Amino acid sequence: MTSVAIIGAQWGDEGKGKITDFLASKMKAVVRFQGGHNAGHTIWVDGKKSVTHLLPSGVIRPGIVSVIGQGVVVDPAQFKKEVENLKTQGFSISPNNLKLSLNASVITIYHQLLDQARENKSRLRIGTTGKGIGPCYEDRASRRGIKVSDLFNTHLLPDKLARSVEEKIVLLRHYDISFPSIEEETKRLIDLAEYLRPYAFETYGLLNEFQKNNEPILFEGAQGLLLDVDFGTFPYVTSSNTSVASTLTGAGGFLPEQRWGVLKAYTTRVGEGPFPTQMEPEVESRLRTFGNEFGSTTGRERKCGWLDLPLLKYAIKFSNLNGLILTKCDVLAMMNELQVCVAYELKGKTINESYPGLDLYQVKPIYQKLPKLENISQCNREHLCDSLQQYVDFLEKNLQCPIHIVSFGQDREELYLAKSFNL
Ligand code: IMP
Repeated sequence: MTSVAIIGAQWGDEGKGKITDFLASKMKAVVRFQGGHNAGHTIWVDGKKSVTHLLPSGVIRPGIVSVIGQGVVVDPAQFKKEVENLKTQGFSISPNNLKLSLNASVITIYHQLLDQARENKSRLRIGTTGKGIGPCYEDRASRRGIKVSDLFNTHLLPDKLARSVEEKIVLLRHYDISFPSIEEETKRLIDLAEYLRPYAFETYGLLNEFQKNNEPILFEGAQGLLLDVDFGTFPYVTSSNTSVASTLTGAGGFLPEQRWGVLKAYTTRVGEGPFPTQMEPEVESRLRTFGNEFGSTTGRERKCGWLDLPLLKYAIKFSNLNGLILTKCDVLAMMNELQVCVAYELKGKTINESYPGLDLYQVKPIYQKLPKLENISQCNREHLCDSLQQYVDFLEKNLQCPIHIVSFGQDREELYLAKSFNL
């Protein structure tokens, strides 16, 4: 059976949660393989909203195993909070359907304090979510980090934590931030470890077993390709590789045959960094209101802009995508006009596709006006209204990639499946 990776093709917040939730019904397992609770995946079921940050979106579907792979950075308190919240909402979450890799990295309080201190007090402001993601990945790379398995070794944990914290304490003092003692943090982590213990698992083996038995697996990307630490708009990126390549390092042994990018019918971005197609303030504000474009993790206003084809072509290429999913078309339909950036102009030259190192602060978008989206209420599972079909045709032609699914509303059912969709 086919395995699929769902990856954000822009700067995150493309509406991956709903798509993952839909595809999950066809899968044996849903796997997170990078990022942490900086993500925010929103799913609407029967008019009720559920948001996951750390847990895979598939966790609310009965009969599916949700896996947090080893490439994820895990805040144990957040894990507990999300599991408890979803249980309160009536979802059935247990160690039978939720597995946490023993090899995943642990976010400590020091990571969070340092992330926030840098945002508030250092010379480089990235606009992070402040959840400790960057400092935790730094510790993994410098081999000072703590793994989930370390939480259960109470004799060694204080020493491992001390090694991890040694240099961070210097930095926190530099930023004049107070922090808990190692003893206090050890105690907090050991308490949380008891909650995590039944969920902790050797997920690599489990996933390989599924693969051996030909079971379909869905890989749920977090953030978006333009936030990739290597190919994104560095330094205004997250600290992991958000591309399909991370399925190998973050879950182990998998390169999914289907690699689908999710893109909004327009573009949004949170945090700092260049944004060539950002709209004029008045138009932007209308789109933000129509699309409720506020961060589901931090509540921050998202910057809004028209679709950016040069960046999308680049993202499709470097992550080797072979399919696309278009979302939030109903929101774009509320606007009085429709424009798409088809190329950039830079120093008299036309650039059709972005590339690493291109100075996105300097490029000038070249826009093409398209017919406004109308009659969206005529769309259903088998049919798109004419204006949206034309938009889809235009994008497929320009991006040279098939669009398998189109979302035209927030509810689970508001999805069109193209003929090319064959799961
Ligand atoms: P960090 O991942 O918290 O370190 O933040 C780095 C950058 O990625 C900031 O611009 C964040 O706003 C952005 N970011 C992180 N996670 C998400 C997400 O899930 N959606 C959109 N932007 C994100």
